[in-house]
Amino acid sequence: MITVAIDGGAATGKGTLAQRLAKAYDLAYLDTGALYRAVAYDVMNAGYEADNEEMAIKSALALPADKIGQIQSNPAIRDEKYGTGASKVSQIPAVRQALLDFQRRFAESPCHTDGTPAKGAVLDGRDIGTVICPNADLKVFLTASAEIRAKRRYKELQLRKIYAIYEDVLSDVIARDKRDSERKTAAMRPADDAFVLDTSDLTPDEVFTAVAERLEQKMCGK
Ligand code: DC
Repeated sequence: MITVAIDGGAATGKGTLAQRLAKAYDLAYLDTGALYRAVAYDVMNAGYEADNEEMAIKSALALPADKIGQIQSNPAIRDEKYGTGASKVSQIPAVRQALLDFQRRFAESPCHTDGTPAKGAVLDGRDIGTVICPNADLKVFLTASAEIRAKRRYKELQLRKIYAIYEDVLSDVIARDKRDSERKTAAMRPADDAFVLDTSDLTPDEVFTAVAERLEQKMCGK
């Protein structure tokens, strides 16, 4: 069983990298941010503030493990307001505990979206290498300057025809990183044995090649 942990801040390219690795090596993929986003979506659409503990815990405990594919591919949760909401619900320790169990079960018995078992998993998030899968075969932590990340996110929003102001996107990226890295439970940080890669001046292909090289070394040693 191969487990790959990809962590990093918002818009560092984690999702793109994790999905490419999963496809190239036939591994199951879990976007763990989508779980927090789905909780925020539920809570906010029920008319509550994202940090409403009771509602967030209820929603996290009810997330259906057999609907991971649907949760991850729901375009509605990609809205920036659910990214910010997710960062808020992720501060609640009982929400993290409920989602920790969910994520560990996935890493231990990974399945592709069609339900077929996989030989391993790629998980991306903030605390995969430090908390969820501390024994992962490969741990990667992506970084990039806040300005570069905001530019990437801004471009992505423009492509999706979503109106945004660059300065707002930049302040959101900075605020989200601050909240995610300063929270009391499972704060975002690289694991001591993580391969830390600054993607500011790299193309997605260059990031993939650098990480795939390391993954193949690990797989050869297994
Ligand atoms: O990766 P993302 O932007 O979709 O994540 C949204 C928020 O969810 C992020 O700001 C913090 C939270 N999150 C977390 O706390 N732990 C994870 N493993 C993944 C996401």
